[in-house]
Amino acid sequence: MWSVVSETEVTTAPRPLLLPDGRPAAGAWSLDPAMKHLNHGSFGAVPLVAQERQNALRAEMDRSPVVWFPALPQRVAATRAELAGFLGVAPDELALVPNASAGASTVYAGLPRRRGGEILVTDHGYGAVTMGAERLARRWGGTVRTARVPLDADEEQAYQAVVGEMSAATDLVVVDHITSSTARRLPVARIGAEAHRRAVPLLVDGAHAPGLIDAPLEGITCDFWVGNLHKWCCAPRGTATLVARGPLRELLHPLIDSWGADDPYPERFDQQGTVDATGYLAAPAALGFIERTWGWQTVRRYMDELADYGAQITGAAFAELTDAAGPVDVGMPVPGMRLVRLPEGLAANRVEADALRDRVARELGVEVAFTSFGGAGYLRLSAHVYNTAADYEHFAEACVPALGEWARER
Ligand SMILES: Cc1ncc(COP(=O)(O)O)c(C=O)c1O
Repeated sequence: MWSVVSETEVTTAPRPLLLPDGRPAAGAWSLDPAMKHLNHGSFGAVPLVAQERQNALRAEMDRSPVVWFPALPQRVAATRAELAGFLGVAPDELALVPNASAGASTVYAGLPRRRGGEILVTDHGYGAVTMGAERLARRWGGTVRTARVPLDADEEQAYQAVVGEMSAATDLVVVDHITSSTARRLPVARIGAEAHRRAVPLLVDGAHAPGLIDAPLEGITCDFWVGNLHKWCCAPRGTATLVARGPLRELLHPLIDSWGADDPYPERFDQQGTVDATGYLAAPAALGFIERTWGWQTVRRYMDELADYGAQITGAAFAELTDAAGPVDVGMPVPGMRLVRLPEGLAANRVEADALRDRVARELGVEVAFTSFGGAGYLRLSAHVYNTAADYEHFAEACVPALGEWARER
């Protein structure tokens, strides 16, 4: 196993976490062993126990649909309470939605039209959520203002960059808890306190926060927060949370109007026509599996140490090719994800980044995320419990030289 020596620190790879029977943690997932999986952040990965739980629930649904569906709202409500406990919020604050995009769309659909209609976002915002804000601004006859946060901004700089763009004209603030393309935190607690002081509604996009941050809403004042359970919590896909606090939450309705329409928030979200809600019901199986097997704290520490190691060895391999590439200081890092600057010419925009992701999967057998920010391309590394140091060593040895060649060919 490698040890990376930089000017200031030595990073050694953390010892892999094992299953109780001594097998590697990856044995609890069904990921293709012929591929390397270094991109947990995009779409997550569901452990077998949660897949089995969802399959059993589906079988139950299909055995007796007429028994299943009328009883479903009560089961969803019970699951909601369990998931609220995991996130450290009150059950009456949390609604279940299919994904973070649906949560943001719900907020955009529920907010009343504002005169002026200026929506403040940041240049780190998730593209689809920012596009939703732009569409809302068009509906309001308003505009979107973008706060520019330097990639390496520390807490104070990031706070000033966002708050410096708030004004009497601001009608809604949308800010990421953990950013997607730049894998960093934004100071949402301080931004929330200031938005609250100005009585401006705040939507926090916490898509990546559940699982990565313990009790993610602790100390945060916000009207709306969305978080995916199908990313770091490893729940089945289509499983996300919308947390809403304060009087505005009564304006929120599920995107699918259904029989719960006259119920208060969040009960009205427990029934959304005839949908397959087995993902929600199986989500606690994923959370419980990780807690019982290793404990979330241990897993977070492992992910963080492994991501550090991965960024250092891949960064060092890139830096050997060109001075312009290597690990990146993102100011407020997150456990489990790291950013590494790519050689010039790779992944300069989102379309190129996605094409590079597809080529690396196809030709090099590695699933990894590439992102772009400010015209530069980045490798966004993820580390989850099923990853080991060997995954990143493989990337550094086999993929970095290929990427260097592809950059030179351009
Ligand atoms: C910050 C952020 N917001 C929103 C989303 C959208 O999540 P989903 O596709 O589950 O709606 C993502 C997905 O990666 C994200 O990273």
